Amino acid sequence: MSSKVRKAVFPAAGLGTRFLPATKSVPKEMLPVVDKPLIQYGIEEAIESGVEDIIIVTGRGKSSIEDHFDKSFELEHLLESKKKSDMLAMVRKISDMSDVSYIRQKEALGLGHAVLRAKDLVGDEPFAVLLSDDVIASQTPCVRQLVDVYEQYNATVLALMEVPRDQISAYGVVDAEPVKDARFGDRLFKIRNTVEKPKAEDAPSNLAIIGRYVLTPDIFRCIESIEPGSGGEIQLTDGLKHMLKTRPIYGLKFEGTRYDAGDKFGFLKATVELALGRKDLGPAFREYLKSLSL
Ligand code: G1P
Repeated sequence: MSSKVRKAVFPAAGLGTRFLPATKSVPKEMLPVVDKPLIQYGIEEAIESGVEDIIIVTGRGKSSIEDHFDKSFELEHLLESKKKSDMLAMVRKISDMSDVSYIRQKEALGLGHAVLRAKDLVGDEPFAVLLSDDVIASQTPCVRQLVDVYEQYNATVLALMEVPRDQISAYGVVDAEPVKDARFGDRLFKIRNTVEKPKAEDAPSNLAIIGRYVLTPDIFRCIESIEPGSGGEIQLTDGLKHMLKTRPIYGLKFEGTRYDAGDKFGFLKATVELALGRKDLGPAFREYLKSLSL
C-alpha cells in the first residue's frame, strides 16, 4: 500500500438545493467566488497539498465541471490570436493542473455512497476527500495540515472546527480526547465517536467535522457495512464510526478560515473576504464598501 496521499476525491453529484434557483441548471460546484468556481478552490488546495490525481464523483447535469477542467481549443485559439497571453496562461493552467478522472453517482444516496463510488479509482491507498462547499483560506493548505498528521500516525484524519451549539446539528460531530503532541499544538484529537447531524442537546461536543478528510482505504469496507442513516442517506460519518471499531481516527482543528459557500450567506462572506484579499481587486473593493452608507 502506498503511504503517500496521492489522490483526492471530490463528491460533486449533490443537487445543491440550498442554492436554488441558481443551481437548477448550474452545478453548485461551478458557482464562482470572485472569479473561480468553488471546486477549483478545492482542487488547487489538493494540488498544493501534494495530491497528483483528482477524482470527481459527478451526476446528471454536471458536465460543465468536466468542460472546465478540459482543454478548450477554441478559447485558447482566440486568446492566442488576440495576444492575450495572461488570460491564455490562466486558461491553460486549469486544464494542465492535474489528471482528472470522473465517475458517476447515479442517485444522490449520500456522501458515504459518493465516496464509495470512487473505490476502484482510489485502490488500496490513502486518499483525501474535499467537499467543495467548504472553501478554506489558510497559510498551509488544510489538506496538507491533515496529511502532516496522517504521515505521523498512519491513520484517518478529519478536519475539525468549533461550532456554536445552535448550529451544531448541521454537521457531523465528534466525541474526542486531546492528544499531547507538540508538533500540532493543542489542536490534535483522538476520536472516540462520530455522529451525523445530532440534535443540539444530543451533540457529544461542539467539534464539527468540516469537509476535508484523509482516509485510509479500509473506509470503503466500512461504508459497505453500514445502513442508511441521517436523512435516509449513506453517511460518511457513519462509515467513520464503523471504522473506529478496528482502527484509531484522529481529528485536527485546522488553522485557517472556513466559508460554507454552499449556503447563501456563507457564499456572500466568502465572496467579500476573498475579494478584499485580492491584490487586483481588494483596494478598490475596500473603498467601494466603505462608501456604502450602511
Ligand atoms: C457534510 C457531512 C457532515 C459535515 C459537513 C461539512 O454534510 O455529512 O458530516 O460536517 O459536510 O460541511 P452536508 O453539509 O453535505 O450536509
